[in-house]
Amino acid sequence: MVDVILGLQWGDEGKGKIVDFFAKDYDVVARFQGGPNAGHTLYVEDKKVVLHQIPSGVFRPGIINLIGNGVVLDPVTLRRECETVASFGVDLKKSLFIAERTHLILPTHRALDKAAELSKGTQKIGSTLKGIGPTYMDKTGRNGLRVGDLLDKNFTTSYIKLRLKHQRLLDNYNFQEDISAWEEEFFEALEFLKELNIVNGEYFIHEQLRAGKRVLAEGAQGSMLDIDFGTFPYVTSSSTVSAGVCSGLGVSPQYIRDVIGVTKAYCTRVGGGPFPTELENEMGEELRRIGNEFGATTGRPRRCGWIDLVALNFACMINGVTKIVMTKADVLDAFSELQVCTAYKINGKETNQVPFQMDKLKPEPQYRSFAGWNTNTSGAKKIEELPQTMKTYVDFINQYLGVQIHYISNGPGREQLIQVQ
Ligand code: GDP
Ligand code: IMO
Ligand code: MG
Repeated sequence: MVDVILGLQWGDEGKGKIVDFFAKDYDVVARFQGGPNAGHTLYVEDKKVVLHQIPSGVFRPGIINLIGNGVVLDPVTLRRECETVASFGVDLKKSLFIAERTHLILPTHRALDKAAELSKGTQKIGSTLKGIGPTYMDKTGRNGLRVGDLLDKNFTTSYIKLRLKHQRLLDNYNFQEDISAWEEEFFEALEFLKELNIVNGEYFIHEQLRAGKRVLAEGAQGSMLDIDFGTFPYVTSSSTVSAGVCSGLGVSPQYIRDVIGVTKAYCTRVGGGPFPTELENEMGEELRRIGNEFGATTGRPRRCGWIDLVALNFACMINGVTKIVMTKADVLDAFSELQVCTAYKINGKETNQVPFQMDKLKPEPQYRSFAGWNTNTSGAKKIEELPQTMKTYVDFINQYLGVQIHYISNGPGREQLIQVQ
C-alpha cells in the first residue's frame, strides 16, 4: 500500500513537516520527482533542518528512505545533506537508498539553467537555478546520465560527450562563467555517491510492498507547478501530481490508497507566473512577515495572498485527494478579516475553473469574507481548543472542495498538528 503526501498549491505548503510527522506510521518514505529545487523544512531536536534531496522520513528511526527514479539528483547537494543528516547520528547505510535510474544533475545543467533564465529577461520562470529544467530535458531528450551509469567504466567518456553538447548550447547563450570549481566538487561527490546504497528502485519497492510494508510517497513542489497541469510555462519540469508517483517509483496505481494534500491556510508562490489571489500590499507583507515566507532553497521572499479555492479544487480533482492537511493556520491568528477566493472573473464572466492561459487571462479573484479568530492558536493541542471562527473557515473550505481537512497545523514544530476529523 502506498499513501501520498503532496502539495496542492505552488509549493512550500509544509510538506516536509507533515511527512516527518506521519513517517512514524510507515516503513518506507520515497521521493518520486523533483530535485534540489525542493526545500523541505523540519525540526529535529529543536534544530531546523532543510532537506533538498533526501526524503523527510530520514530522522525517524528504522525507516527506509528511497530516492526514486523520477527524481533528479545533484551529487554535491546530496553529499552536503548526507553530512548534515549523519551529524544527527543517522546511519545512512541503513536508511538511504537511491534508484539507479535516477538522473544526474551535471554542473553544465546548472549552467544551462542559469543561461536560459538570463536569456528570458522579464519572461524568466524564476527557476531555483539548480539545473532542474535542463536535466529533465536531457531525460526526455534521451541524453541524460543516471546514477547507475556511475558504475559503468565508460562513465567519464559519456560525461565528456554530454558536456561537449552542453558547451555548444552554452556558447550559443554566450555563457562565459568558469564552472571548473563546480566540476571538481561534482567529481568528488560522485565518489561519495558510489559508496551509498544504489539499488534497482522498482524491484526494491516491490519487495517492500510484497512484504506488506507501508510506503509513503513524498511530493516536492506543488500541483500548480506540475509540468502538465500547472501554470505553464511558469512551472517546474516534473509531474508533481499523484500520477507522478507511479512513473517516479515504478508502482502501479492499484497500490495507491490515500492521497493527502497539503495546503496552507492562505497561499504563497515563489518565482514568476500568475497568482490570482496575490496581495501586493501591506496585508501581503504581513503574511510574509508573520509566516516567515522566505524560500527554504533560495531565500527569496515568497509572494503571499489569500487561499484560492478555485485552484485548490482543481488540485484536488487532478490528484484525487482523499484527505487534506491545512498548515500555517496560526499565521492567520492576527488577522481580523480573512478572504477566501471562491471564483475567478475572466473577461467579465465568473467561472470556478482554472483556465488554460492563466498568465494571459489574468483572472480577477471573487472573494467571500470571513471573520478572523484574533487569538493565539499556536499552543492548541486539540480540536476543542480551536476557535469557532476557525472551524467556520475550515467547514466552508471542506464544503467547497468536497474533501475534508483532517489535520490543522498550528506551528512549525513536529507536534504542532491537530487532528480535526
Ligand atoms: P515544503 O517545501 O512544503 O516542505 O515547505 P517549506 O519547508 O519550504 O516551507 C514551510 C515553512 O513553514 C517552513 O519554514 C516550516 O517550518 C513552516 N511551517 C510548517 N508548518 C507550519 C505551521 O503550521 N505554522 C507555522 N507558523 N509554520 C509552519
Ligand atoms: P518545495 O518542494 C516553491 C518554483 C521556482 C520557479 C519554478 C521552476 O520546497 O515545495 P525550477 O527550479 O523547478 O526549474 O523552478 O518552480 N519552485 C518551487 N517553488 N517550492 C518548491 O519546492 C519549488 N521548486 C521549484 O521558484 O518558479
Ligand atoms: Mg519548500
